[in-house]
Amino acid sequence: MSEANTPKTARSIELEGARLAWTESGPEDARTALLVHGFPLHGEMWEQQRVALAEAYRVIVPDLRGYGGSTLGGWPVEGPDREPTLTRYAHDLAAVLDAAEADRVVIVGFSMGGYIALEMLRQHPDCLTALAMLDSRVAADDEAGHAGRLKMADNAAAWGSKRIAGMMRPKLLASEADESAVAQTLGQIEAADPAAIAASQRAMAARPDSSDLIAAYDGPLLAMGGEHDEISPPAEMRAFAENAKHGRFVEIAGAGHMAPIEKPEAVTAALREWLDTLP
Ligand code: MLT
Repeated sequence: MSEANTPKTARSIELEGARLAWTESGPEDARTALLVHGFPLHGEMWEQQRVALAEAYRVIVPDLRGYGGSTLGGWPVEGPDREPTLTRYAHDLAAVLDAAEADRVVIVGFSMGGYIALEMLRQHPDCLTALAMLDSRVAADDEAGHAGRLKMADNAAAWGSKRIAGMMRPKLLASEADESAVAQTLGQIEAADPAAIAASQRAMAARPDSSDLIAAYDGPLLAMGGEHDEISPPAEMRAFAENAKHGRFVEIAGAGHMAPIEKPEAVTAALREWLDTLP
């Protein structure tokens, strides 16, 4: 099915000073998949999956606070919310699902979107029927990773998103990634607001280890990642999937961290196949 005949409806709500935007596609009465993008991207990263999955599923694709069509709304603010955490995004997504009248969904989180999906599991467990983590991790950062995030957060405004895209690039894409995957990835990062980048980095730095959470999770879990992913290595993804009660691991041959953009057909096929098996 082509993009042209898979219409999407753009929607938004106002929440605590921010506009939260998302799109909806596919049959309204079908099972709903919520596709949560990574850092510092926006919902368009899922376009190929959205088009294919909307043949059979209701697909909701949000832009996280500060990205794409969603505004930052002054977050993080002074006071107790000054140090941002991923809980902000989880509460935002719960509000989006509420507004979309989608009460039980399959959450598909890419990288930071996967960390946020884990926070949904903590904060809003009743929203989820199943969980897919794409190129994502359940472990917290090590010391160097944590320090690197805070350094980028402190310098995001001065560096600007173009320089940040250049800094991130070596770990994002496999050497064989085609030009359009490179252009799409870097284009999204370069369009990101440095203030949103800073907020996300601080929130990711503060995230706890979720190994016990995922081991105790009783629902279906798909872990899927690129063969050459250096940010969420496949061996680590396989290990947490095998440790989960109903986990499955799929490796995407030839992809790096940006598997949904680098190898969209393979990712979509594996996702669709898993979604079709859900009870
Ligand atoms: C992402 O793709 O969302 C980020 O690379 C995640 C991270 O920095 O850990």
